[in-house]
Amino acid sequence: MRRIAILASGTGSNARKIVEHLQDNEFVEVVLIASNRKSAKVLDMASDHSIATTVITRSDFYQSESFLNQLRELDVDWIVLAGFLWLVPSNLISAYPNRIVNIHPALLPAYGGKGMYGINVHKAVKDNNDNVSGMTIHLVNENYDDGAIIFQGRTDIDPSDSPEDIAAKVLKLEHKYYPKVIEGMVMAQPKLTTSKKYF
Ligand code: GAR
Repeated sequence: MRRIAILASGTGSNARKIVEHLQDNEFVEVVLIASNRKSAKVLDMASDHSIATTVITRSDFYQSESFLNQLRELDVDWIVLAGFLWLVPSNLISAYPNRIVNIHPALLPAYGGKGMYGINVHKAVKDNNDNVSGMTIHLVNENYDDGAIIFQGRTDIDPSDSPEDIAAKVLKLEHKYYPKVIEGMVMAQPKLTTSKKYF
């Protein structure tokens, strides 16, 4: 069984789609949903599905191994970011090499980097009068929105589309592709070996 932890800061509509999609897969399981916000809706969704939850503080995440230890205790093989707004620290990146995945609501490398999240991204796309946008699924490294691109999905933008309209089109693409891309990546790799997890 490959075991996934999802990290999310907000609503968690992508997290929900992933959980629902993987319910039918006997080889992959979401075992933890972590958030940096204790009021995040994603935590209610996790409880509805009887998935363990945790709220991470800045000091847990950046100044200790406590979150990493939690992942090890749960035998987590993959980390999936779904609307998670904190930069991932290097201890997690070295413990999970090429096994941390993020989704971004634009066609990277355009509209990436610090501060480029949620509606900010779609406002910038609108301000530039772009006629296409989309979503990017990529591996995570030490910089925001910078790791190797795995998959991109595109959508046309109409000149009359508001940033909210663009957001809705992009979110639809995210829901369509993210669960399947994650499933494909996870199924294509063996479990993370103990040596990688512990050294
Ligand atoms: C998604 O659109 C995701 O691409 C974006 O946050 C949204 C979360 O929605 N992520 C970023 O902007 C990361 N830079 P959700 O909570 O409904 O899944």
